Amino acid sequence: MEQIKSVFGRGPPEGSIYDMLKVEHRQIKASLQEILNSGRVMNDVFSQTATALDMHMKGEEALLYPKLEQNNSTRACAVKSREEHNFARMAIRDINNSAPDERWIAKVSLLYDVVSHHINEEENEVFPGARKVLTDTVAMQLGREYRTRTYRKTPSSQTPPQQSNSEETSEMPPVAPSKQEDET
Ligand SMILES: [Fe+2]
Ligand SMILES: [Fe+2]
Repeated sequence: MEQIKSVFGRGPPEGSIYDMLKVEHRQIKASLQEILNSGRVMNDVFSQTATALDMHMKGEEALLYPKLEQNNSTRACAVKSREEHNFARMAIRDINNSAPDERWIAKVSLLYDVVSHHINEEENEVFPGARKVLTDTVAMQLGREYRTRTYRKTPSSQTPPQQSNSEETSEMPPVAPSKQEDET
């Protein structure tokens, strides 16, 4: 779907689940920063970013967090992360229901703070904790599953598409959320 493609491009490189999520973290933050830097109400960019962020969160909730919730040393972090996702979703709904004025910008700024905080926690606490309880092999497998789930790519034997000129490309990028949900 074009919306997510505009935020995530052709998708992150092959790698572990952590590699992929970190790439998307940078992209999501950059998209929100674009809005804030402009100081304008940018509904299209926001819609694309919110869709990409939602896909990212759903991927984490479907693939990574369940693994972490099975282990006592990582469970609390995963549970908290889910709640932070819910908080971000509430913020997104609030923005979508907001009039296009300076409060809209303020709400996007708040979402940016929430997302940045969450990303910092994931990269500095959740992922390091996960590395202790998940083998590298599992992390790579989760990476393949994540890419397939989010970008409609088959496992790592396929290289990322080099050019967005195929029918596949228009469908590959990350999927209308409703379709994705239907499948999982
Ligand atoms: Fe994340
Ligand atoms: Fe997350």
